[in-house]
Formats: sequence, C-alpha cells, structure tokens
Amino acid sequence: MIDIAVEAALEAGAFLKAHVGKVHQIERKFGEETNLVTEIDKESERMIIGRLRSKFPAHDFLCEESGNHQTSSEYKWVIDPLDGTINYTHALPIFSVSIGLEYKGEMLLGVVYDPNLNELFTVERGHGSFLNGQPLHVSRTDRLIESLIVTGFPYDIKKNPSHAVEHFSHFLMEAQAIRRLGSAALDLCYVAAGRFDGFWEVKLNPWDMAAGVLLVEEAGGKFTDFDGRPSTIYKKDMLATNGVIHDQMLRVLSAANDHARSRS
Ligand code: IPD
Ligand code: CA
Ligand code: CA
Repeated sequence: MIDIAVEAALEAGAFLKAHVGKVHQIERKFGEETNLVTEIDKESERMIIGRLRSKFPAHDFLCEESGNHQTSSEYKWVIDPLDGTINYTHALPIFSVSIGLEYKGEMLLGVVYDPNLNELFTVERGHGSFLNGQPLHVSRTDRLIESLIVTGFPYDIKKNPSHAVEHFSHFLMEAQAIRRLGSAALDLCYVAAGRFDGFWEVKLNPWDMAAGVLLVEEAGGKFTDFDGRPSTIYKKDMLATNGVIHDQMLRVLSAANDHARSRS
C-alpha cells in the first residue's frame, strides 16, 4: 500500500510543480476571504483518489476538497492534495502533497512529498520514518531557548483568534526563533527530520496531520494536545516535538492561554 501511496504522491507532486504560476481559478471556501482553493488543488485530489481507488476500490477516503467518501472499509485514506495553497498561489515553492492511511482508527502509514526539493518522506507504523530512503530521527535539543520551532495560523483567525497571537508572542520570548512556512505537513516532516525542534498549531485538520504526525512519532518524537494528552488527527490543537522540549512547550502554551483568558 505504501508503494501505491508513493506513486500517487509523486504523480500529484509533479503535476503541482508543473503548474506553479499557472493558476486560473481561485475560489474562497466557507465564506473566508483567505481560505483558498484552486483548480490545481482539485485536479491533484482527483489524480490521487483515482490512483488509490483503482487499486483499493473498497477503501474509505477523507479528502480536503471532496470530503468523506464513506464506505464500510476499515481502511481510510486521508489526503491533502496541496498543502500550502496560499504559498502556491504566490508561486512560493513551499508546498507538498500529504497522504496518510488509517486502519481501524489508527494511522498505519504516510507519505509527504515536496516536489520542489524532491524530498519524499515515508513512514509505516513500527518501521520508522524515512527521507528519500534514509532513516530520520528527531533532534536532541533540550532547551527551548536553543530550539527552532514552527507554527501556522487558522484561516478564520480574524473572526476567531483562538489565542494564536498570545501563543506566538509567548514563544517569541522563550524560543531561539520561530518560523511560519505555510505547509503543516512539511512542518511535521521537518520535526521528524530534526530540522525543527517543535511545531504547534491551533485548528489543524486531519489531512494536514495524517501522514506528518506518524512521521514525527516514528522518528522518536511526541504528539499531544495542548494539555499533554495523547492526541489524534481529529483533535484540532496539536503539539509535535522532539519529545525533549515537549513539557517546556506545554508550559508556554498554558501560560499563554492563562494570559489570554485573564485579558478577556
Ligand atoms: C494550510 C497549511 C498551513 C496551515 C493551515 C493549513 P492548506 O493548509 O498547512 O501551513 O497553517 O492551518 O490549513 O489550506 O494550504 O492545505
Ligand atoms: Ca493543508
Ligand atoms: Ca490543501
């Protein structure tokens, strides 16, 4: 199954790369001015579903653009056909394809492909995480002040700030530096690869996380909610780290939440 997922990710990634700068239709989703979908997102998703369904016709699918294709299968493919749509519409070459497979409610395998750097991240539960076939391990950084961390922001932040600004400002004071790349799937891959020490975000969707959180866990990292409880791809607020700085990041999130509540 991972081989077919890799084929689908490579094919969709090549399609995305070939169409950078050639977006013709930008639509807004859910009435939000900044939540975009293009004809490229939709075509990428059609390609991925087509390839996977031709091999696994009975499997269930949860896809960002076409939603849930409910079946009675215990296998569910969770797909983000273009993670980084805003970057893509600006021809900023930071975007990816993310494909995860859930079995009986647990992530089984995942593939994230960055066609710009030709980086293919793959993972199977119990068998480790890989970048272009080389094993990955999270970083060993043990102090937040020496940590490079990353985040993202929800599309509805203007209506529902979700304490995201407070989280950001608190981490600014506590970490070495913060980045915002614009592709949550890559953020997670980079934690797995030890490039980032931690990643937090509010209101992520299952397709942003499906492959990436398994990559982090299989690379030796940790994935929880903001209270430090084991999480799933269906819980929206997420923290993924090298494990060593996890508690330090939880403390900052908690302090930022307290601060935000005390002001409201
Ligand atoms: C978005 C990106 C971004 C994250 C947003 C996601 P999309 O996905 O992953 O980094 O901050 O929360 O929705 O819309 O480009 O697939
Ligand atoms: Ca996404
Ligand atoms: Ca997307």
